[in-house]
Amino acid sequence: MAILICGGAGYIGSHVNKALNRQGYETVVFDNLVYGHREAVKWGKFIEGDLKNPTDIEEVFQKYKIDAVIHLAAYAYVGESVIEPEKYYFNNIVNTLNLLRVMRKFGCKRIIFSSTCATFGEPETMPITEDVPQNPINPYGFTKLTVERILKDYHNAYGLEYVVLRYFNAAGADPEGEIGEDHDPETHIIPLVLDAALGKRPDIKVFGTDYPTPDGSCVRDYIHVSDLAQAHLLALRYLEKGGKSEFFNLGNENGTSVLEIIDAVKRVTGKDFPVTLADRRPGDPPYLVGSSEKIRCVLGWQAKYADIDTIVKHALILRKSR
Ligand SMILES: NC(=O)c1ccc[n+]([C@@H]2O[C@H](COP(=O)([O-])OP(=O)(O)OC[C@H]3O[C@@H](n4cnc5c(N)ncnc54)[C@H](O)[C@@H]3O)[C@@H](O)[C@H]2O)c1
Repeated sequence: MAILICGGAGYIGSHVNKALNRQGYETVVFDNLVYGHREAVKWGKFIEGDLKNPTDIEEVFQKYKIDAVIHLAAYAYVGESVIEPEKYYFNNIVNTLNLLRVMRKFGCKRIIFSSTCATFGEPETMPITEDVPQNPINPYGFTKLTVERILKDYHNAYGLEYVVLRYFNAAGADPEGEIGEDHDPETHIIPLVLDAALGKRPDIKVFGTDYPTPDGSCVRDYIHVSDLAQAHLLALRYLEKGGKSEFFNLGNENGTSVLEIIDAVKRVTGKDFPVTLADRRPGDPPYLVGSSEKIRCVLGWQAKYADIDTIVKHALILRKSR
């Protein structure tokens, strides 16, 4: 029996693939490499294919006995989703339906789905627990919420069992330096600040310094990608033991501001670099921090690398060599 990792050549998926292989799982990575990297698939089997082609997916299920699917394949650029919503509706929703249809055809009944804090929009209650109302403010968040609802319906109608993990901001990299973050274009703050420290960018821009936060810059919840990977492993074991379908928020419960990230990068690298203070960007909520109480209680998950300096240190390992 194998675990199918859709999007396993990407940033988070490659760390999930490593974590599963370390625990003796046989994995099959399925990715169209639109954003993923072949060299990031260092464990298990690799199949190049696209979820938009049901025959690509069927071939995997014909070749391997798939016990469960971890579904990370999606487009994830919030700004682009506003400009090109159709692209997001097709890849994130329609192509997920293709996957679910093939899973049904082959009797595969377990899925772990990558959702996001963007499904909550701009909630007023912090930290964000699972019962906070979900009101996404962009098409990306809406596509993820739609898939959450689809999974619920498939559970009720067809007996599909799911775990939905709503990640906050994935950050850091494999502590052993085997894989890391390599997005193009890169929009995540830690790699961007590291690039400024490494002289690969002229400066780093801070969008908004007048937010109602302790230092005026936006606060987010950064969670180490290896801690995220561990959550997938626990979710898989939970489903294997017959655990009931669930939604979990997955963050560090720790807010870190943009200015604190910049300080951490300066501390870790020992480098100074220009910081440009700019106006707020539309649609950036001031403060987003998740509660992880439920996943700690139900799955026994614990963050191993919660400290921001450690997250930056690990992100730096591969960033340096890029
Ligand atoms: N990175 C974060 O902070 C974050 C936060 C919340 C949720 N998420 C979600 O987690 C998942 C993984 O994020 P990531 O940062 O690793 O992104 P990523 O782009 O690095 O990984 C996604 C992978 O999916 C592949 N893919 C996309 N469309 C595909 C298709 N039609 N068929 C086959 N493969 C396809 C890409 O090539 C890529 O390798 C995404 O679903 C994203 O929405 C990420």
